[in-house]
Amino acid sequence: MKKETIIVLDFGGQYNQLIARRVRECNVYCEIKPYTMAIEEIKAIEPKGIIFTGGPNSAYGEASPRCSTEIFALGIPILGICYGSQLMAHLLGGTVKTAPVSEYGHTEVELDTADLMFEGLSPKSICWMSHTDYIAEAPEGFHVTAHTPSCPVAAMSCPEQKLYATQFHPEVMHTQEGKEMLQNFVRKICGCAGEWKMDSFVEDSIQSLRQKIGDGKVLCALSGGVDSSVAAVLLSKAVGRQLTCVFVDHGLLRKEEGDEVEAIFGPNGAYELNFIRVNAQQRYYDRLKGIDEPEEKRKIIGTEFIHIFEEEAKKIGKVDYLVQGTIYPDVIESGLGKSAVIKSHHNVGGLPDVVDFREIIEPLRSLFKDEVRKAGLELGIPPRLVFRQPFPGPGLGVRIVGEVTEEKVKIVQEADAIYREEIAKAGLDKELGQYFAALTNMRSVGVMGDFRTYDYAIALRAVNTSDFMTAEAAQIPWEVLHKVTNRIINEVKGVNRVLYDCTGKPPGTIEFE
Ligand code: XMP
Repeated sequence: MKKETIIVLDFGGQYNQLIARRVRECNVYCEIKPYTMAIEEIKAIEPKGIIFTGGPNSAYGEASPRCSTEIFALGIPILGICYGSQLMAHLLGGTVKTAPVSEYGHTEVELDTADLMFEGLSPKSICWMSHTDYIAEAPEGFHVTAHTPSCPVAAMSCPEQKLYATQFHPEVMHTQEGKEMLQNFVRKICGCAGEWKMDSFVEDSIQSLRQKIGDGKVLCALSGGVDSSVAAVLLSKAVGRQLTCVFVDHGLLRKEEGDEVEAIFGPNGAYELNFIRVNAQQRYYDRLKGIDEPEEKRKIIGTEFIHIFEEEAKKIGKVDYLVQGTIYPDVIESGLGKSAVIKSHHNVGGLPDVVDFREIIEPLRSLFKDEVRKAGLELGIPPRLVFRQPFPGPGLGVRIVGEVTEEKVKIVQEADAIYREEIAKAGLDKELGQYFAALTNMRSVGVMGDFRTYDYAIALRAVNTSDFMTAEAAQIPWEVLHKVTNRIINEVKGVNRVLYDCTGKPPGTIEFE
């Protein structure tokens, strides 16, 4: 049976990923595609429905992004949101112009609950508006199905042609009944049964990986992070010992983390796979000696990883498939314009150049992060690994300001372990986006007992963030900070001062380097 799919056509709006996620929450598979996608390609997917996103342009502008009007004749239900609604109106002969009053934020909208899109909803509902243009007149054949005092066409529909449009954004949380609206679109208008679930994703993936790989050999770089772990377990369930996972312990992991990864994936762990742990701690400390420039440190850590992986791959010989834990936001983001490089993130980008293989497999390519986590739970991966907070590829290398030494690694590992323990004890671990201890390069004078000390300052960091692109410093209760400070000073040798980082992002970044 063909998988029910909804396509989101991207016109440059800021909530595009959110639309796709909301549709998937209705248990219907959804993909974001560029608005330039050819009609033939759209037809080939046989989508059950199409959603036009918002966007920053004016639908009547000469150079504005638009799709071919042929799309309206396919007989596939379409929902236009914000710019998408204006584009639909403009292309079908309605009038779009600059609104006399721009609407922004929570707005009470009167809905026609006889319209399928709003069936079962309240006649007056709070919706999220964000527009300067508006549809002044709906195209012929359309009914106005919602309005506000300053927006005559807050929604419109032409049920005969299965065309629907909303000026407001049903996908954002501020639209109180937005979920129900999208559910109506997906189920009642597009006729989706909504059977796309994580367990079916896991089962289908295992089957298709098995079929694709046959008796081929598979190689995976395992970091112990959520994405590579879920990818590895999926492959292990599919092809067992045909899979080899290489885990490089670069000595810049959190306290005991290397052993934890080994306990889960190693010979005494729960999975059928070949596990190779490379203990490269000393090699990294040697290479990092005397280096204090952040980008140089990152490059060394990344390049060394590639060298080690190459050495291991050579030992294994020719492999057929290389696994990467790419997830959907990586796929979408790499398709967008490049922004300034603030930090050169090292992931597994350089591996394909050094491994002799036939094809890359990216089993999580279509999943959002929370879906990867659901798949992880479905696969029986321990929750503490599945819900692990993000940890940068270069590890503690970017949490030690200046030169990295074994002694400094030890200090930051110990301090960080205490911090994490106390945060968990205080029940704050689930609500914080990311939190960790970093080692500043500052030594200062203190007094302990009757002695003068001249030791390092540990910085504690905790942020709340939804996307890690921006973040706010979290307000950790003073009692917790106080306890952590006392414990670090008493228990971690070489530290005589603890600071809390109050900086947001921007202007700070989450990591220190
Ligand atoms: P920044 O410090 O750029 O961090 O505000 C944003 C998020 O990215 C993580 N991060 C990295 N992840 N390789 C990674 O895989 C890296 O080099 C890297 N640098 C930062 C960081 O932990 C945060 O979640």
